[in-house]
Amino acid sequence: MSDRKSKSVFLKAYPQGMPAASDFEIRETTVPAAGANEMVCRTIWMSVDPYMRGRMRPDVKSYIPPFSLDEPLAGGAVAEVVESNIADYGVGDLIVDFTGGWKEYYVSSGERTQKIIPNLAPLPAWLGVLGMPGLTAWAGVTQIMKPKEGETLFVSGAAGAVGSVVCQLGKMRGARVVASAGSPEKIRWLKEEAGVDVALNYKDYKNAAELTKALAEAAPNGVDCYFENVGGMHLEAAINCIGFGGRMALCGMISMYNNTEVEPGPPNLVNLIGRGVMARGFIVSEYADKAMEFAGEVAPLVVSKKIKFQQTEYDGLDRAADAFVGLFHGENAGKAVVRVGADPA
Ligand SMILES: NC(=O)c1ccc[n+]([C@@H]2O[C@H](COP(=O)([O-])OP(=O)(O)OC[C@H]3O[C@@H](n4cnc5c(N)ncnc54)[C@H](OP(=O)(O)O)[C@@H]3O)[C@@H](O)[C@H]2O)c1
Repeated sequence: MSDRKSKSVFLKAYPQGMPAASDFEIRETTVPAAGANEMVCRTIWMSVDPYMRGRMRPDVKSYIPPFSLDEPLAGGAVAEVVESNIADYGVGDLIVDFTGGWKEYYVSSGERTQKIIPNLAPLPAWLGVLGMPGLTAWAGVTQIMKPKEGETLFVSGAAGAVGSVVCQLGKMRGARVVASAGSPEKIRWLKEEAGVDVALNYKDYKNAAELTKALAEAAPNGVDCYFENVGGMHLEAAINCIGFGGRMALCGMISMYNNTEVEPGPPNLVNLIGRGVMARGFIVSEYADKAMEFAGEVAPLVVSKKIKFQQTEYDGLDRAADAFVGLFHGENAGKAVVRVGADPA
């Protein structure tokens, strides 16, 4: 097989503060034929995720290395195998790959890939509710917060890829779910489709005191579980309202990802002491060994449409930067995905 040309997205420079589409550019790369124990894959859908912003900060030590300016960006993708020298993968197989995003074609060793069950769900669902964000939500609910019947669960970033699954898994466990998101349409979806008990548009509240008042009204018996996606005033309000024996799953703090100055922490952490609160940070990869248990619960719920999900689609690799930047402006409802190539024939 001969080399292939691929359009691939590169960072021009590391963004300072809020990223812009102008920080990215598309270059043509050459993708070699598959070597021994390699395969060449064609990307169909790619994922944009908030964690990628952390990989654009070369000065910050993290659980995942920074992106290089000299290589295409990488991320989750649904792809089709077009050449294979790996015994377990054949031409035409559809896969989810942690590295296939931001490019049309790439070489994979098959180490961070998983085969897709064809026709189980729309292909982008493997990047959302059935993929990394779904496992993140499931892990936070079932392994950390463990909400009980009648308890109150507060979720920030509730209409996003992770938050929307948290809301619904919480409801299925009998919790009263209070959700926060940033637009009237997201609030409508959370109430009418995800079935939450109360949905707060955080943009109606100027500061943590105002959000605390609204949360206290929505959770008159206090918050038992908090799923943290946002940070800032959401965290402060949650700590104000958390009850005795509360559990907090610290998943993300997107409101801080583009800060150029260090932001002071919440001033009310002392509440965690007297109220015996467990606050547990986690990265989804910690729960990779639970992926089958997650799929066993969530895939049937997706197939039977008991779990609802939304996806916001961007068309074409040249929209990938817009899709990524849009995460920080709330432009996505549910999972943000980019169509990079055609569906398989
Ligand atoms: N720990 C892990 O392993 C792990 C794995 C996956 C994701 N995460 C984290 O989970 C969180 C959600 O990720 P996701 O993939 O589900 O993204 P997402 O919620 O689908 O998209 C991001 C959403 O964040 C909200 N947002 C952006 N800037 C905000 C701000 N300044 N204040 C409040 N809300 C803001 C926007 O919704 P609104 O319209 O509501 O503002 C936006 O739509 C992120 O913090 C992410 O880093 C962690």
